[in-house]
Amino acid sequence: METSIQHDVLILGSGLAGLRAAVEIARRSNGKLSIGLVSKVQLMRSHSVAAEGGTAAMMRPEEGDSFELHAWDTVKGADFLADQDVVELFAQKAPEEIIQLEHWGIPWSRRDDGRIDQRPFGGHSFPRAVYAADKTGFFEMQTLYDTLLKYDNWKRYDEWFITAIAIADNRFCGLVGLDLTTGEFHTLTGKALIIASGGAGTLYGFTTYSQTVTGDGLAMAYRAGLALEDMEFIQFHPTGLVPSGILISEAARGEGGYLVNKNGERFMEHYAKGKMELAPRDVVSRSMMTEIEAGRGLKTPEGRNYLQLDLRHLGEQKINARLPFIRELAMKFVGIDPVQEPIPIHPVAHYSMGGIECDINGATAVEGVWVAGEAACTSLHGANRLGANSTAECLVWGQITGEQVVKYMPGAVAMQKISAAFVKDQEKRLEHWLSASAGAENLYALRRELRQTMDNYVGVFRTGEELQQALSKIQSFKQRYQNIRVRDTNRVYNTDLVAALELGNLLDLAEVAVASALARQEFRGAHARRDFAQRDDEKWLKHTLAHFAPEGPKLTYKPARITTWKPVERKY
Ligand code: FUM
Repeated sequence: METSIQHDVLILGSGLAGLRAAVEIARRSNGKLSIGLVSKVQLMRSHSVAAEGGTAAMMRPEEGDSFELHAWDTVKGADFLADQDVVELFAQKAPEEIIQLEHWGIPWSRRDDGRIDQRPFGGHSFPRAVYAADKTGFFEMQTLYDTLLKYDNWKRYDEWFITAIAIADNRFCGLVGLDLTTGEFHTLTGKALIIASGGAGTLYGFTTYSQTVTGDGLAMAYRAGLALEDMEFIQFHPTGLVPSGILISEAARGEGGYLVNKNGERFMEHYAKGKMELAPRDVVSRSMMTEIEAGRGLKTPEGRNYLQLDLRHLGEQKINARLPFIRELAMKFVGIDPVQEPIPIHPVAHYSMGGIECDINGATAVEGVWVAGEAACTSLHGANRLGANSTAECLVWGQITGEQVVKYMPGAVAMQKISAAFVKDQEKRLEHWLSASAGAENLYALRRELRQTMDNYVGVFRTGEELQQALSKIQSFKQRYQNIRVRDTNRVYNTDLVAALELGNLLDLAEVAVASALARQEFRGAHARRDFAQRDDEKWLKHTLAHFAPEGPKLTYKPARITTWKPVERKY
């Protein structure tokens, strides 16, 4: 049975950005605006809980840090593609969020004198990552959730899978989707929407993301007519645990860990002598791949390449105090105690610098729709994000978009109904899969092929030839997708159906990422084209915009906003 639910504001995604936005709306409106918080997972299972190392913010002007320095590090780390007004706003607002969370009760790790501690992170020229041991995301989520519980007038829709965003006359109408617990189809209408549904990391097989991160919000926004920006820039974190890809936090290097090759050599001295292991992630990941390609890596008995992260010199006490989770992960997943032995690691897909196009306040081109966190492309990170800037971004733009929505409400026009034809279309799509007559293609085999394609052809280094091959494969996968079979035809908790919907989202996003990468003929940040060895500011100091078209993405461009720092050679 279909029901229609109404709220003033809908928030899609209950991770850091979504929760921070919900708290902001609740407190600014004194509980007067009703909020529907929709997530395909139980609220505290959002992927933000997996954030480990820290949240970057300028907290110590008296010790030499400054807003300008944080902004400069971010712009340089971004290989100059970041919009600099956005970066400056971010640097100024991040400390407010740290203090705000402190007031809401987060257990930040502290110095001996009781003040909030900060640790070094890659590409930052000051120890700037505020942290809670190596479980920062978990504690941030818990603190925001606790805070939200103080307010009424919000309702959570856990385990609801949204299939489409309804827009009419360029204005937001609502969401349509499934309550997974019952299998019933619903519509949710609202005057405003904040998309805070995270990235698309499971485009790859070797990834730090949980399996739930399938880019649903990005893909739905794209199909609804919003542009996806800079999707070619995919970050590879240097230290994914081999073979699973589980994140081994950059905090391990921030606390003094070494990267070594098979000869026990700290190879980063050949690539970034000034910053060594704490160069930005694009630089470190490329250096690691170069070492492996030169035959200085190691191999698991199964033939997987890896290098090593050596923490032994830090000693057991420091590892237990600062990196307890890393020790636990290494012991549980590969049977290695980092106190005694180095950890096997390899660059791993970790973050999407791109996302839904929006302005500095997270507003999109559609009235009533905002976007925050990894789903957004405010152009804060340009071509390469600095570690610890992501959780900070979620908090900053969760706050900003929440505030913007509250300001928008008094002038907002009445809710628009979602058209019956739109709802029918969505229902028909699901019914097609739930009918036993649907196709013969195995959706899990297809998903595996997609991930292998991304792992093999769209990696740390890429060439035009590889990208073309990847694009052709993805286009053929999209054809085959029309013929997938959903074997479970029940309605309650139909994870088979969810996997089918997610795969459709991943395929659209893969096509956008690869088409955008193929078109960008330069070497910038995380987009390391072997066939274009240089950054090309003359032609490519601009953002890619991908618009949906049935035959494949249409690409256009817009200039990067350079307000303060002219691009210069990027050395570390
Ligand atoms: O390594 C880490 O802890 C990840 C942090 C980040 O991506 O910002």
